[in-house]
Amino acid sequence: MKVLICGKGGSGKSTITALLAKSMATRGYNVLVMDSDESNFGLHKQLGLGMPEDFTNYLGGKEILGEKLIQAYQSGDNISIFENKWKISDIPEAYTVEKGNIKMIAIGKIHDFGEGCACPMGALARNLLKNIETTTEDIMLVDTEAGIEHFGRGVEEGCDLILMVLDPSYESMRLSEKISKLVEKAGKPLYFILNRVDNIEIQLTMEAVDETHTLASVPSNLEVFRAGFEGDELNVKLPEIESVADFLASGIYL
Ligand SMILES: Nc1ncnc2c1ncn2[C@@H]1O[C@H](COP(=O)(O)OP(=O)(O)O)[C@@H](O)[C@H]1O
Ligand SMILES: [Mg+2]
Repeated sequence: MKVLICGKGGSGKSTITALLAKSMATRGYNVLVMDSDESNFGLHKQLGLGMPEDFTNYLGGKEILGEKLIQAYQSGDNISIFENKWKISDIPEAYTVEKGNIKMIAIGKIHDFGEGCACPMGALARNLLKNIETTTEDIMLVDTEAGIEHFGRGVEEGCDLILMVLDPSYESMRLSEKISKLVEKAGKPLYFILNRVDNIEIQLTMEAVDETHTLASVPSNLEVFRAGFEGDELNVKLPEIESVADFLASGIYL
């Protein structure tokens, strides 16, 4: 199964992705975490991994990838980057980091000022997500950049399910309306995880989302905060994340 995690900046997307990856790995799944956020550098640390090499380099780097995409676009071809479908084990090892049954790949990062726009990386993320075939023993978790740009690039096309992380803020509430509309158009199941909420905030935040599609309300947790603050690996087991993992493992949304 392939799951896309979205939400506003700072809502907890990467944290929830890392916690879910760990929980699913403990259950024996082969976990592939795909980092498609081109501007944040923390996810590998939350997983206790080194930083993987940008996957854009596999295709010759961002510039060459950009040129290929422009050529394909001009000739009216469908922008398809891969010749064959890949299983998780087909991803070239040079572009992954792994520990136990968690593997991570990063599409690419904006490393320097003036590197240009991230569109080629969006196209690559979309292609890679579509190109990977998972089995019932696999789970692919895709961490995205803030907001909705990845929807504009069609990154969600290849996923089976979308999880939106909401913190109790005006921006998250508004974003949930936009994302609900976009996801409906894309015809994908959408579920919500409220993050960093106390009891009163749960009630307020729940008014903005479909309660029946809300999988968990994760409280603010000091250990999670500390690990995030220090850039340490997340070794916290939260019951709320376990119930999301139960849901994913059940496959009932498919
Ligand atoms: N439930 C939580 N309890 C405490 N701190 C949290 C929680 N969720 C996220 N954080 C902290 O909030 C910050 C932003 O989270 P992050 O996952 O990086 O957000 P995003 O990926 O959406 O930008 C991080 O420092 C993280 O450690
Ligand atoms: Mg993040």
